[in-house]
Amino acid sequence: MEQYIIKGGRPLRGEVSISGAKNAALPLLAAAIMTDETVMIDNLPDVRDIGVLLQAIESIGVMVERVNPNCVKIQAKNIQTTRVDYEHIRKIRGSYYLVGALLGRFHKAEVVLPGGCNIGSRPIDQHIKGFKALGAEVFIAHGMIITEAEQLAGSHIYMDVVTVGATINVMLAAALAQGRTIIENAAKEPHIVDVANMLNSMGANIKGAGTDVIRINGVPKLHGTEYAVIPDQIEAGTFMFAAAATKGDVLVRNVIPKHLESIAAKLLEIGCTVEEYDDAMRVVGCEYQKNTHVKTLPYPGFPTDMQPQIAVALALSNGTSIVTESLFENRFKYVDELSRMGAKITVEGNTAIIDGVSGFTGAEMTAPDLRAGAALVIAALAAEGFSLIDDIVYIQRGYERFEEKLKGLGAMIELVSTEKDVTKFKLKVS
Ligand code: EPZ
Repeated sequence: MEQYIIKGGRPLRGEVSISGAKNAALPLLAAAIMTDETVMIDNLPDVRDIGVLLQAIESIGVMVERVNPNCVKIQAKNIQTTRVDYEHIRKIRGSYYLVGALLGRFHKAEVVLPGGCNIGSRPIDQHIKGFKALGAEVFIAHGMIITEAEQLAGSHIYMDVVTVGATINVMLAAALAQGRTIIENAAKEPHIVDVANMLNSMGANIKGAGTDVIRINGVPKLHGTEYAVIPDQIEAGTFMFAAAATKGDVLVRNVIPKHLESIAAKLLEIGCTVEEYDDAMRVVGCEYQKNTHVKTLPYPGFPTDMQPQIAVALALSNGTSIVTESLFENRFKYVDELSRMGAKITVEGNTAIIDGVSGFTGAEMTAPDLRAGAALVIAALAAEGFSLIDDIVYIQRGYERFEEKLKGLGAMIELVSTEKDVTKFKLKVS
C-alpha cells in the first residue's frame, strides 16, 4: 500500500504549474461521446478518476487514443452498448455524466450508480427530475440508473438545490433534445461554463452558463472538436493554502485568477500577501496569521472542496475561527487526524470551531477522502518532524503528480510502499 512520508517544518517556495480541472474534465469526456466524430481533449489531468472514466467509455466501444498523458483523442462512432457496468466506474462520481450523454445521443442509458468520496449523503434526485422533465423514464434497479425516452423534448426545469452534477447532466441531455430547455437555479461553477463552451464548439446552442439561468436550444447532431480543459481551481487553491500554512512563498501558474477570488479573499483576511497576475497568483504566508470565519457555498462562494485546506491554515492561525460546511454533512472527518498533530478543533453539526495553535507535530494519519487527504499533506508539511499518511489513493484520484509538484517547491515528501522506503527517506533527510 502506498503512503506519503513527509518531513515538515520547511516553508514551500517556488513556482508550481496547475493541471486541468478534474471536475471539468469528467463531464467533457462524457460530452465527447455525444458525437461520432473525433474529439480531442487537451490539458487533461493525468489522475486516477480520469483513467477510470476513459476505461469505462472504452468498455462500451469508444476508441480512446492517449496522445500523451494530458491529451486524448476520442472517437465514439462504434458504441456497442448504452449499458455501462465497468467494474471500477462505481467508485467515481463523474460516472453519472455518462447518463446525460448517452440519453442525449441514444435516448437510453444504463449506468452503475455513482460512488465517489464519502463526504455525506449524495442524492441524485435533481438529475432524475431533470431527465424526467425532458421526457425520459428513469428507474433505479440492481444498482443501476436506467433511463429511456422515445424522444427528448426541451423543458423548463427549476433545480430545487444548486447542484453542479445535475446542472451539467441535464445540460448534456438537453443539448440534443428537441426544442428549448431552460434550467433555473443552475449552478455557476467554472466547470459548467467549460462544459457549455465545449458543447457549443461541437455545434450545441447553450447560452447563460455561468449564470443561474441556462438556455439550451436543442440541436439534432453534434460534431467533433478540439478543446482544452480549464485549470483546476481546487488544485490551485490547495497550493495557495499550502503556501499559507507553511508560511512560504509560492507562485501558482496556469490559473484563471477570476476563479480563485473567494480563495484569495480568505488568504488576505488571515494576513497573507496575494499578488494577481494574468494567469498566475503569488501567495506569501505571514508569521502571525489571523483567525477568520468561512462558510462553504456554491460558486462564487468559498468552495466546499477547499474547506479542509483552509481549516489547516486556520488551525495554525491566532485566535478562534469558525468553519461552516453547508453542502456535505460528512466533510469534517479529517479533524480527528489533525488532532493527532495537536490541532484544537471541535465539530458541532456542520460547524467546526478551531482554536489556533502555534504549531503541529508530525503524526501517522489516514486520508479520509480526496480534499481532506490533501489537507493532511499540507498539515504534515507545516508540522515539526515526520508524518506518514495512509490511503493516499484518494489523493491520487484528483491531484496530478502531487508529491512531485510539492518537491518542486522544496517539500520533503516521498511516495513509499515499504518500511525500507520509509527508513531510506528518514536517513536521506536527516
Ligand atoms: C461535484 O459533486 C464535485 N464532484 C464535488 O467534488 C464537489 O464537492 C461538488 O460538486 C460541489 O462543488 C464532481 O464534479 C465529480 P453537487 P456533485 O451536485 O456533483 C445536493 C471533489 O473533491 N444534491 O453540486 O455530487 C448535494 O447533496 C468532489 O473533487 C441534491 O440534493 O455535487 C449537495 O448538498 C467531492 N440532489 C449539493 O446538492 C441532487 O440530485 C451540491 O451537490 C444532487 C445534489
